[in-house]
Amino acid sequence: MVGFDPKTADKETLTAEINRLKKEKNAVIVAHYYQQDEVQEIADVVGDSFALSKYCANNDADVIVFCGVHFMAESAKILSPEKTVYLAEARSGCPMADMVTADDVKRLRREHPEAAVVCYVNSSAETKAECDVCCTSSNAVQIVRALEQKEVLFIPDKNLGSYVASQVPEKTVIPYEGFCYTHNKITVEEVDEVMALHPDAELAVHPECRGEILDRADFVGSTAQIIDHCTKSDSRTFIIGTEMGVLYELKKRNPDKKFYLLTPRFVCPNMKHTRLYSVYNALAKGQYEIEVDEDIRVRALGSLERMLELGN
Ligand code: 13P
Ligand code: SF4
Repeated sequence: MVGFDPKTADKETLTAEINRLKKEKNAVIVAHYYQQDEVQEIADVVGDSFALSKYCANNDADVIVFCGVHFMAESAKILSPEKTVYLAEARSGCPMADMVTADDVKRLRREHPEAAVVCYVNSSAETKAECDVCCTSSNAVQIVRALEQKEVLFIPDKNLGSYVASQVPEKTVIPYEGFCYTHNKITVEEVDEVMALHPDAELAVHPECRGEILDRADFVGSTAQIIDHCTKSDSRTFIIGTEMGVLYELKKRNPDKKFYLLTPRFVCPNMKHTRLYSVYNALAKGQYEIEVDEDIRVRALGSLERMLELGN
């Protein structure tokens, strides 16, 4: 549209333009639960990391516009190399994914030659290429339990790794030292304070939080599992221990229940860059395309496919 400015256009016009371009390019818009409400609203599918990986691997679109962070769009490209994958905002990285490198994995393998290396999906393609299997927060316990090796190196998240170790005591799980700034900074004092205000509430938290917080939780799970749990639970009030974006889906599915964010500090700045105009720009200007070196892609695909097999 000549003279069209997506940053100043009204929401209705912008939405209509996005839908027109989507149809023209046979594109799908996928969004993580931490995205801004306006992005979740327009997406064809909203989900946790595992559901989005599966969705991207199993649809016949030509173009995927990924509204999330870099490793998620990269996983989509690894699983669907024939599709054009755009990350809607180039600045959207995940600092935890950058805390471990392929060289770190090679070193760990030399130090623990008998161990399996399990790689949280929050990691680069290069790192995934050096690992045995990927996992997400929704299936990490299940995947580690299913491995034949007794010793497991878990990278990069120390909190998820420690949680898995506590749930799979028959294995020796060695967590790496990575973490998520957004989840790891939450303190027990904040938990105690909010629980004192809402003593009847259930506490549902993401396993990227520290162990002492998980110990106080009624439920621990991925974003999708938290949403599912709160929807099915008979409780009426919940304290939510993960990024604020999940409140959109929680409130949509449960208009009669009350949800309190554990703390207003629960914001992932990387996830918040993406706006409706970013989605438009991705489709209209073909930005920001994700490319993965073919040798790395094929090796990383092995780790992701093994996850999809074991995680189903
Ligand atoms: P989920 O797999 O639970 O969606 O989490 C991804 C993530 O980045 C959490 O910080
Ligand atoms: Fe990465 Fe943490 Fe943001 Fe998740 S919440 S995308 S782990 S920085």
